[in-house]
Amino acid sequence: MTTQQTQTSTPAPTEHIPVFLNDVLTVFSEAAGPVRSAFDGTFGRGGHARAVLNAYPEVRMLAFDWDEEAISFGKENFAQEIASGRLRLVRASYLDFAKEQARDFNLMLLDLGVSSPQLDRAERGFSFYHDGPLDMRMDQRGEVTAADIVNTWDEQDLARLFIEYGEIQRPFRVVRAIVHDRKERKPFATTRELASMIERVDGWQKKGSHPATRYFLALRMKVNEELESIERVIPDLIAGLAEGGVLAIITFHSLEDRVVKNVFKANLHLGRLVNKKVIKPSDEEVARNPRARSAKLRAFKKF
Ligand SMILES: C[S@@+](CC[C@H](N)C(=O)[O-])C[C@H]1O[C@@H](n2cnc3c(N)ncnc32)[C@H](O)[C@@H]1O
Repeated sequence: MTTQQTQTSTPAPTEHIPVFLNDVLTVFSEAAGPVRSAFDGTFGRGGHARAVLNAYPEVRMLAFDWDEEAISFGKENFAQEIASGRLRLVRASYLDFAKEQARDFNLMLLDLGVSSPQLDRAERGFSFYHDGPLDMRMDQRGEVTAADIVNTWDEQDLARLFIEYGEIQRPFRVVRAIVHDRKERKPFATTRELASMIERVDGWQKKGSHPATRYFLALRMKVNEELESIERVIPDLIAGLAEGGVLAIITFHSLEDRVVKNVFKANLHLGRLVNKKVIKPSDEEVARNPRARSAKLRAFKKF
């Protein structure tokens, strides 16, 4: 399987390096002109947004991110673009795109999953290398945390989650240990508590992928309803494209990519695929940015 920005070795704190920057500009170059408006549904640290604003001096951009930190970063670092009206930055889920009633975008982008700063900050609870609360909400207003799932779901539902989203063949010993420990010892509160238990139960030789990687990925995807959201939003985004507009989507998980592929396919009466084959990162990009290694890019051009 391919996993979203997996944690295979102890990471140093990083800034976010945008994935497929050149490829995104290449698929966007297929958009029919004049290119005047763009929507970035996953602003993050604004790497792609900046590239698009630079490449298209006429463009005005609407950008969403549901993470408070991404929005404050954007307000600080894109102050000029915001003041001039070239960028409107909104704290919202891309699922709220339809509510904006904005239409006729020439370019649209979703760069899914977490950003490097989210992953690297202990207090966000995404990483088992940095001890923090077992949280994993990208939107801090969300109601369900990873701790809620680990401490309240029954054995069967936990096993199904790890099998389906984590693509773990046999999560049963870990699931049994979760259910035992939370009752007999205490509920799981931190990333280290959960990761240490998984290390203990599944064993780890301190090389290769950490055994907690896929468990953490599955929890994160559920906490943030990632798969469900992509499936729901793509038709709205296609509806928001201008004639000849291009929607590009970057995924980091094979299940996400499958959803994008299938929803694009189901909409071929409205447009066409920009590239027949999915775009994967070059060896050079992976060497420069290891978090790109599971990335895939697909693009759809509206008739
Ligand atoms: C991989 S990062 C994007 C990085 C960005 N393209 C850049 O170059 O800096 C993903 C971002 O999407 C945001 N995100 C994920 N799901 C979202 C959703 N449903 N609505 C809005 N933002 C979301 C995350 O909070 C994160 O900041």
